[in-house]
Order: sequence, then C-alpha cells, then structure tokens
Amino acid sequence: MRIVETARELSDLSHVVKQGGLKVALVPTMGALHEGHRSLIHLAQQHADFVIVSIFVNRLQFNNEEDFKTYPVTFEADIDICRSSGVGALYMPSSRTMYPESFSTSVEVSGLTARFEGASRPGHFSGVTTVVTKLLVTATPDIAIFGQKDFQQFAVLRKLVKDLDIPVDMVMAPTVREEDGLALSSRNVRLSEESRQRAVSISQGLFHSLSLFQSGIHDTQELIEAARQTCIGKIEIDYIAIVDAQTLENVTEAHFGDVLLFAGTIDGIRLIDNIIFCA
Ligand code: PAF
Repeated sequence: MRIVETARELSDLSHVVKQGGLKVALVPTMGALHEGHRSLIHLAQQHADFVIVSIFVNRLQFNNEEDFKTYPVTFEADIDICRSSGVGALYMPSSRTMYPESFSTSVEVSGLTARFEGASRPGHFSGVTTVVTKLLVTATPDIAIFGQKDFQQFAVLRKLVKDLDIPVDMVMAPTVREEDGLALSSRNVRLSEESRQRAVSISQGLFHSLSLFQSGIHDTQELIEAARQTCIGKIEIDYIAIVDAQTLENVTEAHFGDVLLFAGTIDGIRLIDNIIFCA
C-alpha cells in the first residue's frame, strides 16, 4: 500500500493506475476507521480495481471547536486497517497541504444544505463540499463511496458532482450497525456505557417506524411520532423528518424510497441516523 501526502503525488498515482487500464475508487474518510469504513472499502473493491482511501480530519466542516478537538484520531490503527483490507493507496495530507495559508476558496451547494444538518451546523456542508471537491479533483476516481448514515451529505455531494460535471459515479453504502442496531460512527467511542444504552433507542425508533410503514401506515406524522416516542427522554432530539430521497423535501405520505432522517444529542455528542422505507 502506498501512503501519499501531497495532492501532486495522489493525482500522479491515480493517473498512472488509470493509464494501466484499472478502475479507481475513492473512499473519503476522516479516519478513526471502524467496521463501517471496512464495508465502504469492501464495496469499493467490488466496483473498482484500485482503492484509494483518504484520511483527513477536515477542520472546515466542524462548526464546533470542541467537536473538532475531541474527534478521535487513530492514524496508526487506521493505516493497519487499510493495509489489511487491501487498499491500494492511502492519502493522508496535513492540514497545511490541504489548506495552505493562502487558501481562500469554498464550494457551496445551495438548497439541499439549508435544512437538517445544514441548519443545525452552520458552515458544515460548505466544509464538506470544499474538501470533497478537492479530493475528487485530485484523485480523479471513477467511483466515490460514501456511507448512507450521512444521508443528507450523500444527497448534497451527488448534487455537487452533477452540477459541476465531475465525472465520477457516486455510490452509497448501506449503514453498518452493531448487533443491537446502533449505527456505527467514529463518535460512538465518546459515549459512556450509560449513554451508549440510550443511543440504541435511535435505531429502535427508526425500525419501529419502518415496521409500521411495512404494515401499511404511510401517514408521516404517525410514523414520525412512533420514532419520537421510542427516543423521548433518552435523547435530546434535534429533528425527525420524512423526506423525498432526492430533494430532501418533507412528504406527507411516505412512499417506498422516502427516508426517515434523525438527529439528536446525548451528553453533548451529536448522533445521526436514517432509514429508507422499503418492503
Ligand atoms: O463523511 C465523512 O467522513 C466526511 O464528511 C468526508 C466525506 C470524509 C469529508 O470530510
């Protein structure tokens, strides 16, 4: 596995790999890799011949300094995971490499970023879209893989590549869950045993709502209320909404493919999750 630290090295490497007729996939991450990331890498390997993982804790997307400072950093373990997973190249730029002192550009997607995570975390999406644009332009992958857990992020990035004509196929990987249903997240390590127990009610609420949908209840108020009742008292709920998967507009009747979005906080730790209504 090659470890590269500059944009030039990365773009040269990708160019050479593609010239050899191989398909390149990019898996952008902020490190603290877990089984969820392994599944992204695995999916990337099914779609491409050569997988690049990027690890960069992107300060620009943290609207909260404390969240940035306490974000878990486990670079050595991350390198081992990538190596043992058969990753072709790992891109680990420094902050200075990604954002030199003279850096003054930002990439914004309007509309889709106005609500939910965008409303609760001002500036978050512009940090995400700026760094992902840089990664896509540098790595020039054929495919880029992102997790479903950050559903709004995926919708925003899909719009970004469409609007900017970036020639990459965007692939969304299903959320990986603990046995009790908790969605894997790098932030989970910050949960105490007690808050970890309470966090499980998020997925319980989502799956309860899904089972009501599957039993024929499509009224969104009822479906949202079912999820809310499961979490109430355990989590400080930020939003629960049922939206169209492309536009992220609220719907009044849930249909197959619509998404139930959830965000909340436990002991100051923000957790998000979602479920796509399916049969
Ligand atoms: O989903 C993440 O881990 C980050 O938002 C991403 C896409 C790597 C950009 O920093």
